[in-house]
Amino acid sequence: MLHCFTPGGIWPDNNGVHINAHGGGIIKHENRYWWFGEHKIAGEAGNRAHVGIHAYSSSDLMNWTDEGIALKVEPEGSASLIAKGAIIERPKVLYDSANRRFVMYFHLEPVNAGGYGAALTGIAAAGAVAGPYTFIRGIRPNAGHWPENVRPEQQDQKSIGQAMQYPGNISNGNNPVTPSLNILGRDFVKGQQARDMTLFQDDDGKAYHIYSSEHNSTLHIAELTADLLGHSGRYWRAFEHRWMEAPVIFKHRSRYFLIASDCTGWAPNAARLAVAGHIGGPWQELGNPVHGNTEQMNNTFESQGTFALQLDDDRVIFMADRWRPENAIDGRYVWLPVKFDDNAIPYLEWSNTWNTGNM
Ligand code: GAL
Repeated sequence: MLHCFTPGGIWPDNNGVHINAHGGGIIKHENRYWWFGEHKIAGEAGNRAHVGIHAYSSSDLMNWTDEGIALKVEPEGSASLIAKGAIIERPKVLYDSANRRFVMYFHLEPVNAGGYGAALTGIAAAGAVAGPYTFIRGIRPNAGHWPENVRPEQQDQKSIGQAMQYPGNISNGNNPVTPSLNILGRDFVKGQQARDMTLFQDDDGKAYHIYSSEHNSTLHIAELTADLLGHSGRYWRAFEHRWMEAPVIFKHRSRYFLIASDCTGWAPNAARLAVAGHIGGPWQELGNPVHGNTEQMNNTFESQGTFALQLDDDRVIFMADRWRPENAIDGRYVWLPVKFDDNAIPYLEWSNTWNTGNM
């Protein structure tokens, strides 16, 4: 029995095997927590999906039972978008109680997409929380829809044409070309790029898909349909050209807080905190949420966020990954309690060990 979290350590499951659920997220269902994450294999090959999405369950968040593979990749060489060798990242699951259906979203790059070029969102569903999940589709969100906060110049045909005809390859890391082009307009017809992502379900039941879009330069916050199976077409752009990845979101005293990373691939960087009174914004950046020494502030405890597990209004767990891209299976989990200062602003502090009893 484990009695505490040890951020960054080996985290054995019920079989004594290090938990294999990277870039994960958690839902609570019938008094059990379910953790879904990327199953990684050893070596650099493990940065691609060879097995699928792994599920674990727990009643206390420390001791996890291996529940097997919730979404399996299709055989190598198959025409499926989730064939073995695809990139399947950051899975998150929500429950649609009206239809008794669990819906999973993830970042999907099919095998033939040439790395991270496709920027698709994968959607899968299951009748039971553990799965098996059936892959439904891989899409670019919000095709044919302008964001709620669109600006007139983004709808201008000339700037759309210029962006569509741009001859070069545009990188998905911080670059000067992206802000000079109307990438939103360029992708209006075929749908918006979606890479790093999370899901968030608000108190009113509305669910949102928050993803890095426009070559990772800008976040989109997109409402899902009531059955969770797609995007409603209502969305907002936020943090324009701020290059934010790994978004996590939670709510405290009626305000929305977002913690995201900078855009530096597997290498950790300084996290950023932001607050808003409405999920669509306007968002106000509040700087680095880490309270600690310079190194901890610069690399977010050597980790990158993946999910904020909200136990109640005051108790939130920041879940992050310490990636090991050279031996992906050895990636570690850094879970820390979100603390709140006197102004109800969240911050993060290192703890070698802790448990939910001292949150
Ligand atoms: C990170 C991202 C990870 C993965 C990685 C690949 O920035 O958060 O999910 O995509 O890049 O380099």
